[in-house]
Amino acid sequence: MNKVYLVGAGAGDIGLLTIDAVNILKEADIILYDALVNEACFKLCKRYALKINVGKRKDNHSKKQEEINELLIKHASSGKIVVRLKGGTPFVFGRGFEEVRALKKAGFDPVILSGVSSTTAVPESFMIPLVDRKYNDSYRTITGHDIDVFDEIVTSYHPRENIVVMMGVHNLKKIVDNLLGKEFPHDLPLAILSKGTTKDASKMVSTLKDISDQDEQFFEDIKSLTPAIIFIGHTVDATNYFN
Ligand SMILES: C[S@@+](CC[C@H](N)C(=O)[O-])C[C@H]1O[C@@H](n2cnc3c(N)ncnc32)[C@H](O)[C@@H]1O
Repeated sequence: MNKVYLVGAGAGDIGLLTIDAVNILKEADIILYDALVNEACFKLCKRYALKINVGKRKDNHSKKQEEINELLIKHASSGKIVVRLKGGTPFVFGRGFEEVRALKKAGFDPVILSGVSSTTAVPESFMIPLVDRKYNDSYRTITGHDIDVFDEIVTSYHPRENIVVMMGVHNLKKIVDNLLGKEFPHDLPLAILSKGTTKDASKMVSTLKDISDQDEQFFEDIKSLTPAIIFIGHTVDATNYFN
């Protein structure tokens, strides 16, 4: 049975590729890759490896998920080594398991090679701890893509939990207002962590209330920071207390 590899490319920096990812990229004949994959990794590939960009970004979907599934199945049937290269790690908001389901249904046996997710690597790259005993005992990662889903899941504030919001920048205003409406503290720290682990990385630190008070232009401009993570919680402040 032909194998297809779902491989995590890491959160941006080429150094986040795992040894398994490097080894399979060297062998691959066909690579279907996402928009957030660092294309520098193709230097590892065979010269004639076929590279297909199937990247989906908000409002700019080059391919629908069903088309990607079909392409994967088509190439897997060729008998060549097929790599589906995904940003971060395959099963964190990458629709990776939908691809697994489609491949299994078509009779293939996909292999998962985990990567370094942006959920952890991006805050860490800005020296923001996901968990630090001084501040918290929990963090949750949630999509900010759909405000109704966010509203349903994040029901109340707990001072010892951080919230890592992915795919949420276009909904930033709705997200902060939603939290303020649920009695989250006005001065709760929030950081927007943009293009983490890359040379264009930037961090903006604020509070729920200060973000909520920004004008419309701010929320328009902030969209240029994608990909970005909205990190909400007290460990944003952790690096202020080294001394
Ligand atoms: C579709 S999700 C895929 C996540 C990926 N599977 C992972 O494990 O990192 C894409 C979201 O991840 C976050 N993201 C990915 N790379 C990032 C980076 N380098 N800096 C900041 N956020 C990033 C953003 O929130 C972006 O909208």
